[in-house]
Amino acid sequence: MGKVKTNTRYYCTDCGSVSPGWLGRCPSCGKFGTIVEEIEEVSAKEVKKPSALSRPVRLSEVSEEKLVRISSGIAEFDEVLGGGIVPASLVLIGGDPGIGKSTLMTQVACNLAKNYKVLYASAEESPAQVKMRAKRLSLSGADMLLLGETELNAIIDAAADADFLIVDSIQATYLSEMNSSAGSVGQVKECAARLMRFAKAEKKTVFIIGHVTKEGAIAGPKVLEHIMDAVLYFEGQTQDNCKLLRAVKNRFGSAQEVGVFEMTDKGIFGVKDYSGLFLSDGRGENAGSVVTPSISGNRAIAVEIQSLVSKTAFGLPRRMPLGIDYNRAALIIAILEKRAYIPFYSSDVYVTAMGGIKLTEPAADLAVAIALASSAFSKAVPKDLCAFGEIGLTGEVRGVNFTEKRLSECYKLGFKTAIIPASNKSAAEKFAGKMKIIPVKHIYQTVKILFDGETVSNE
Ligand SMILES: Nc1ncnc2c1ncn2[C@@H]1O[C@H](COP(=O)(O)OP(=O)(O)OP(=O)(O)O)[C@@H](O)[C@H]1O
Ligand SMILES: [Mg+2]
Repeated sequence: MGKVKTNTRYYCTDCGSVSPGWLGRCPSCGKFGTIVEEIEEVSAKEVKKPSALSRPVRLSEVSEEKLVRISSGIAEFDEVLGGGIVPASLVLIGGDPGIGKSTLMTQVACNLAKNYKVLYASAEESPAQVKMRAKRLSLSGADMLLLGETELNAIIDAAADADFLIVDSIQATYLSEMNSSAGSVGQVKECAARLMRFAKAEKKTVFIIGHVTKEGAIAGPKVLEHIMDAVLYFEGQTQDNCKLLRAVKNRFGSAQEVGVFEMTDKGIFGVKDYSGLFLSDGRGENAGSVVTPSISGNRAIAVEIQSLVSKTAFGLPRRMPLGIDYNRAALIIAILEKRAYIPFYSSDVYVTAMGGIKLTEPAADLAVAIALASSAFSKAVPKDLCAFGEIGLTGEVRGVNFTEKRLSECYKLGFKTAIIPASNKSAAEKFAGKMKIIPVKHIYQTVKILFDGETVSNE
């Protein structure tokens, strides 16, 4: 390769126009705060010869690579990754400040250091601080290499003979070729691209720790996710002991996988028995709560949904969902108003998923609707009742997948009644003798059965 001369240039992330220096407002499209810096590599001219790789080959002729997986020593972490760490992959671990990213990665690094060469590049904390943490967690990774460095080229040089590199965090590292400060969009993007090239060319596994901004995106905009092999994201309240590690992207496994962890003073540990973790003891006594079995990756988790409907004191009524998508909640409120004749126009509505979990699948719709109706009527739903199903705009309850898995989790936890979509009735036949299954077709029918004592038709 010819000698590489690097220059930096500034371009608008919105319209792509290039400007000679940093500007607050793009002169081309007029947007504010969209100009970022990036490295422009100008290599001495070389005539490119076509390599063997640039010739098309038949799919049947492509040589297979065996997918090996390395255990991190933490079963729950391996599961989220889809069965273990894939060598030469690039993994991003994101999460709010203080949630336990460094703790988890220190534990993983110390476990890996028993068999592999591991370099932990701590740009945020001094090696002494990492040592103190490792001591508190009683970790025995004496051979793990530590580097207290913030310049990325120096980190990559130091990792030349390591098998694993952990960068803590991407926002604290910088490239000296660039003028912008560490943590800016340009720096973060370029540092991640450099690490990606390092991982793929040198066949090293690289873990990148990234902070999440207030808007919930990793490193400002979602600039990093597309170049990563896997993106894992820590969820849960910082002050809560229970944390969830969710895969939002995984090239080597399911992108729905969730790991349940518990933070203690001895470190962060996978929770094997997570049943009942997202349920409260007092449910069934007060109006507004119901349980739904939610599917995350390969597992079903029973989650309690609680809601509070109160009279609006002034002006616009508030809608405040926590752990449930805002638009989805607004949609369910509108459906309940129009199709089940429950007025919400003069009520504030609060609805949460317990334990800090985020429910993303539409199968939680029916449970959210029942919780809202229960609170609106001030009538409690029985403690041993669970519900799942998607609700359409016309109010019909639509079928969802994994009926058997959902019901078996609820049965295991002692639930006796399940409200399910009528179209899933055949999949629930196995549970006919064990639980009372109530198939429903419409949200109005569901409300009538639960709160008006209407009898269940079993056609
Ligand atoms: N002595 C201790 N005893 C119990 N828990 C502790 C102790 N020290 C730290 N912790 C826990 O560790 C958490 C911080 O973990 P960690 O430093 O891994 O988080 P992080 O996500 O890397 O944060 P940062 O954004 O600062 O890098 C704290 O929220 C706290 O709950
Ligand atoms: Mg940290």
